[in-house]
Amino acid sequence: MKGIILAGGKGTRLYPMTLGVSKQLLPIYDKPLIYYPLSVLLLAGIREIMIISTPIDIADYERLLGDGSRIGVSFTYQVQEQPRGLAEAFILGETFIGDDSVCLILGDNVFHGQDLTAMMKRVQEKLRGATIFGYPVKDPQAFGVVEFDENFHVKSIEEKPAVPKSNYAVPGLYFYDNSVVDIAKNIEPSSRGELEITAVNNVYLKRDQLKVELMGRGMAWLDTGTPDGMLQASEYVKAVQDRQRYYVSCIEEIAWRRGFIDLAKLHQLGAELQMTEYGQYLMSLK
Ligand code: TTP
Repeated sequence: MKGIILAGGKGTRLYPMTLGVSKQLLPIYDKPLIYYPLSVLLLAGIREIMIISTPIDIADYERLLGDGSRIGVSFTYQVQEQPRGLAEAFILGETFIGDDSVCLILGDNVFHGQDLTAMMKRVQEKLRGATIFGYPVKDPQAFGVVEFDENFHVKSIEEKPAVPKSNYAVPGLYFYDNSVVDIAKNIEPSSRGELEITAVNNVYLKRDQLKVELMGRGMAWLDTGTPDGMLQASEYVKAVQDRQRYYVSCIEEIAWRRGFIDLAKLHQLGAELQMTEYGQYLMSLK
């Protein structure tokens, strides 16, 4: 399975912070935002990852992350000329995806929780068509809302409905089989001129191939698209890291735990950052 991180966009809700810097490079507590969605893909065992961003920002991501060999994975970089919508990822990524299935994650979505790895393993093993997630929220009107039957087959997805059919929002994490490339090529732009991910999902829905996996109460999903969202996510990460010995979304640690790099390499990466608590943490792992 391949992974794609969408790290473009304008980030208008974060102006003026994002006038000079791409949103996904801004910090959430002690690390760049993109580390969080990247961690999710690494936890899913995905080692071939494409990062999509704007013509101006793509070089910054390359500078930050390199070719991935430091953590035993492979990063590919792809420019999106204009923010033409989430579903354009599959058109831009056609060659990269090849014959594989693909997991798409939005660059500003933070997930954290004990069941995350097991849940993604489950989804990958039984993937047929597409799987999206459902996350219980108290204000579903503000989100894409998924309605489903007792077998977790999706019945509808509605964007910001006045009368929501469930209280499950759809977060920015999606699993697709290989037909997503053809589907994305054949959908029409919406009234706001974007290739909408909902349009892709609706094709799978019509084929009765769209399933939803529910995220439980132990899972944190934080959207960092606004200043309040960023601050809340930073406070969450700091609280967890202060309380536990473990870091949240530490890409080097995950790469080691997943067997992508050995302990000696992990300690070497830590030594490079030894002036920081982050580096000292990496060196303390064993
Ligand atoms: P959004 O939050 O919908 O858009 P944005 O990041 O430009 O922010 P704003 O609404 O404040 O203007 O995007 C969700 C994620 O997807 C975000 O990480 C940026 C990314 N994205 C792309 O990479 N390309 C796109 O065409 C779009 C629409 C979003």
